[in-house]
Amino acid sequence: MQQMRTSIVIGAALILFASGAGADGTIELKADDATMLARGKIVYQRECAACHGVNLEGQDGWRDKTVDGMRLAPPHDKSGHTWHHPDALLFQLTKYGLSAIIGRDYPNAMPVYDGVLSDLDIIAALSYIKSTWPQDVKDIHAKINADYKLNLQMEKRGKGTN
Ligand code: HEC
Repeated sequence: MQQMRTSIVIGAALILFASGAGADGTIELKADDATMLARGKIVYQRECAACHGVNLEGQDGWRDKTVDGMRLAPPHDKSGHTWHHPDALLFQLTKYGLSAIIGRDYPNAMPVYDGVLSDLDIIAALSYIKSTWPQDVKDIHAKINADYKLNLQMEKRGKGTN
């Protein structure tokens, strides 16, 4: 339940989050680019695998267990909810952290990579993650990205800046 609530909060926050790289929806993961994927696999195994798993399987009990009141690392494969979020949001939450995205202090064990990894390394790691998803999940994710961009465009029009 807690997990579902957090996902909803993140979902709502992505509409509101209006600053920082990628907020305009221009960040695109390159799940078909071999050079990017080679780099991403190295970054993922070095920076992310300790928590999210060598095979993207997440930490045991991630669905309901907490440690010190904080959630465990979810898987990045089909069984998790990474693919529920558009490219731009995945980038932002990896770079700026979950609290920045949610817009309030949210104690969590996910590191903030701003100043630690370059934008390119973050995009590479996330592209690698995306490249492992089966085609049906990639198709749904493409739709999520398209909806996200459309929302941003409508928001801009609503503000009269377009
Ligand atoms: C120290 C452990 C740790 C490391 C290292 C780590 N993460 Fe995480 N990550 C977490 C935890 C824990 C969460 C869930 C936080 C929560 O929801 O409270 C998380 C959540 C995420 C999410 C959100 C998933 C979702 O569906 O909401 C993404 C995306 C993510 N991590 C990407 C990465 C990437 C990319 C790396 C490497 C560059 C990385 N993480 C490294 C612990 C870690």
